[in-house]
Amino acid sequence: MGSNITVGVLRERSPGEGRVALVPETVARLAADGARVLVEPGAGASAWFADADYAAAGAVLAPADELLDRVDALLCVEPPEAATTAALRPGRLLIGLLDVLARPAAAAAWAEQGLTAVGLDLLPRTLSRAQSMDALTSQANIAGYKAVLVAADSFRRFLPMLTTAAGTSKPAAVLVLGAGVAGLQAIATARRLGAVVTGYDVRPESRAEVESLGARFLDIPAVPEVSGRDGYARRLAEAEQLAQQRGLAEGVARADIVVTTARVPGGRPPLLVTAAAVERMRPGSVLVDLAAGPSGGNVELSEPEATVVTAGGVTVIGAGRLPSAMATAASTAYARNATALLAHLLRDGTPTVDLADEIQAAVVVTHSGSVVHPAVAELLDARARLGGTR
Ligand code: NAI
Repeated sequence: MGSNITVGVLRERSPGEGRVALVPETVARLAADGARVLVEPGAGASAWFADADYAAAGAVLAPADELLDRVDALLCVEPPEAATTAALRPGRLLIGLLDVLARPAAAAAWAEQGLTAVGLDLLPRTLSRAQSMDALTSQANIAGYKAVLVAADSFRRFLPMLTTAAGTSKPAAVLVLGAGVAGLQAIATARRLGAVVTGYDVRPESRAEVESLGARFLDIPAVPEVSGRDGYARRLAEAEQLAQQRGLAEGVARADIVVTTARVPGGRPPLLVTAAAVERMRPGSVLVDLAAGPSGGNVELSEPEATVVTAGGVTVIGAGRLPSAMATAASTAYARNATALLAHLLRDGTPTVDLADEIQAAVVVTHSGSVVHPAVAELLDARARLGGTR
């Protein structure tokens, strides 16, 4: 890359967030390229990366206020607090999973401040040259793997068929709803643990992907196969959604473990498993909802980051933040993604915005005092027309 910039990383502030945007390995790579790297003391502690390891890799440990004053580029995982970004100087780069489609007002503030905000979560994922930067994929992969371990941990039986002197145990039946990156990894992981696995998704191309992992595909004839834009699913119409919920209830009732991973771009996750469907499950069954968050999840009864045991003995686990539970692996992958995107933004070692570049046009949200991302600008315009203050 050959860079002469100063890159900084803080300890993530959001409660329950264990990841960190740079790990010693990537610090060493940045330093070898000529970048100066500032790291807040304790930044990597919850992912088991010690300050001494960052220093050994070439980072300088610096308190937050000094770091924010000196950096050219601040890397983060989750969107930083307003007070943090307010301390950055105009023209500075902010790179992270900024979630601007849900929080356009933050983008407006960054534009006003003159920051160049870059949303890793806006990356065009089907572009092969963007794959090394695809943090949504790296994190979803981790979530899908961990979801099965979390389910297995709460399940009071074996996943594989086991034959011992005490007899033979039946393999567990695992159903995975949503066969994107997380869902496919959940299917593969459950198969590795010996479960009998079924997968389901609304996108037509997912059938072959599910079957190629040795799982069955769940057919729901009443629901059309739908594809949205850029490989994502579209939101189902209400009648389609009701038909889906009814169709899924059968499959859910037969399963011992259900892992749900469905999302649609820019909105609340689709409700796939109703309370009535959970009632039909056998006692001891386990549901893990990867989409569980403040605006709801795929399972009616799931609560974010909480475990609920129903009167019928079904354990419902709201697990929307599983990458954080694997903070070491998640941070390592994330840091590689974030630094690959940073490298892409440099020309002759200096951050250079070029909106003619397909990747930059997708990820750059604010630049030179404006919101340059069309979808975010549109959201802000719509809010202004409605007289909204957010
Ligand atoms: P996501 O996190 O947005 O959603 C997860 C899954 O839920 C998706 O497979 C989606 O089709 C499914 N879903 C949404 N609504 C549903 C419903 N009502 N019922 C059942 N399933 C529902 O998706 P993710 O995992 O981020 O992947 C998005 C797309 O991007 C996929 O097509 C994936 O194959 C593609 N992709 C392509 C890459 C590449 O070409 N290099 C890299 C990463 C992703």
